[in-house]
Amino acid sequence: MTQLTINETKELDTISPEIYGHFSEHLGRCIYEGLYVGEDSDIPNVNGMRKDVVDALKEMGIPLLRWPGGCFADEYHWKDGIGDKKDRKKMINTNWGGVVEDNSFGTHEFMELCRQLGCKTYINGNVGSGSVQEMSEWIEYMTLDGSSPMSELRKKNGHEAPFKVDYFGVGNENWGCGGNMTPEYYANEYRRYQTFIRQYDPKNPIKRICCGANSEDYYWTNDVMETCYKHVDPANHGFMDLLSLHYYTLPEGWLPKVSATEFDEDLWYKTLWAAHHIEELIRRHGAIMDKYDPEKKVGMSIDEWGTWFEVEEGTNPGFLYQQNTMRDALVAGISLNIFNKHCDRVKLACIAQLVNVLQSVILTEGEKMIKTPTYYVFKMFKHHQGARLLESSLSGGKDAGTAKERMVPKVTESVSVKDGVITITLNNLSMTDDEDLTIKLTNEKSYEVLEANILKGADPKDKNTFGEPDKVGVKEFNDYKADGNRIELKLPCASVLELRVKQF
Ligand code: AHR
Repeated sequence: MTQLTINETKELDTISPEIYGHFSEHLGRCIYEGLYVGEDSDIPNVNGMRKDVVDALKEMGIPLLRWPGGCFADEYHWKDGIGDKKDRKKMINTNWGGVVEDNSFGTHEFMELCRQLGCKTYINGNVGSGSVQEMSEWIEYMTLDGSSPMSELRKKNGHEAPFKVDYFGVGNENWGCGGNMTPEYYANEYRRYQTFIRQYDPKNPIKRICCGANSEDYYWTNDVMETCYKHVDPANHGFMDLLSLHYYTLPEGWLPKVSATEFDEDLWYKTLWAAHHIEELIRRHGAIMDKYDPEKKVGMSIDEWGTWFEVEEGTNPGFLYQQNTMRDALVAGISLNIFNKHCDRVKLACIAQLVNVLQSVILTEGEKMIKTPTYYVFKMFKHHQGARLLESSLSGGKDAGTAKERMVPKVTESVSVKDGVITITLNNLSMTDDEDLTIKLTNEKSYEVLEANILKGADPKDKNTFGEPDKVGVKEFNDYKADGNRIELKLPCASVLELRVKQF
């Protein structure tokens, strides 16, 4: 029996909506086919963007989209992706399958997609193979409202008004595919490049994202922070608004990759342990950031996270296409609850990736589209976006299972409040055992449950397929008793639950 205690009088930080962000790279079938089919396609589209996918993403609640990469960002030259499509330069996508990239999806198309989605824009610049001039001209092209060579070029290409760039990443994984740099070298490059991200619209400043660490690389975080804070007025916050962190859930480490759909109890718990491990990473990288930035002015941007399994049999290994089961849903539920709990530092996060790549919320096959179990987790958690985190804690529960001799907790949670409505999201990580749960609100008042929804398959391996698209979906949950300031319920094994509660 587990008890969840909620102190509804203790509001903590605001959960930034951008924690529920997504990532779309020129990789496999994410952009082409998944999001963009072109105006002449038979697949219903608006200005080339798939209508079914855009509608589904709007319904899910997508606050932010990152583009064009990933590793692709550090070999992307933005001028190749503007102007008349027939004249756009073709290139080889050396990172992902060696396929020809025809640049038909470029800056204007990305901005159009975000306009249709109604989401914020996060553009990732090229440090690895680009130049300061190229990056600064891109900023000028996108955001300058007056007359300049780049803004005139944008107008000539059909967009009179400037675009809005909310976030700009200065390189991607510059410790690896973005140039194999040392932290000191990158940090000095970062200082130089970010100088030329001019704020042409000071009322809507572009937030600069500095490339942070991979997983447990605490040296990178320390050395980048140290170099960026050296000989700087502290009011400058190390020249950065956010520092990134990339972490993938890899149950067995990088090798061997494990199947996305076939797993036993051992692999279930290894995967969920690996997902839960991000909590430790946030705490330890956060502690290093605290040394330089105790007031937490610099946000943590976990702009790549999610499961990375073996590709679906018969698909191009460079396309990273994998299926998505209830195990992925639990990984999403665990991660999002952790991000909520750390919203004082974590200000942005992007699951990798949006469509047809790694832990996607949507999969497509020709004109068909399915929503994955992960999609439904994002949809259930969307009420946390922009809400205030409430103090909450668990007691009395047992661990669910063991992975690598480490215990996986049975239940994880987070609680927030917005407009007087409390949103509670819970995961039962046990593959086999339900859990009796009592929720106690500390106010001696009466509460009613406005809405209760559950995501659960008949089997933890359940997934949606093109033949059976609705096998896993959200259902109304009735197995609870609300009485005064207590709610009692049975949380089914391998499930994600959302409750919305209000005082009356
Ligand atoms: O998401 C796939 C790849 O993983 C990204 O391109 C890169 O940044 C990371 O290594």
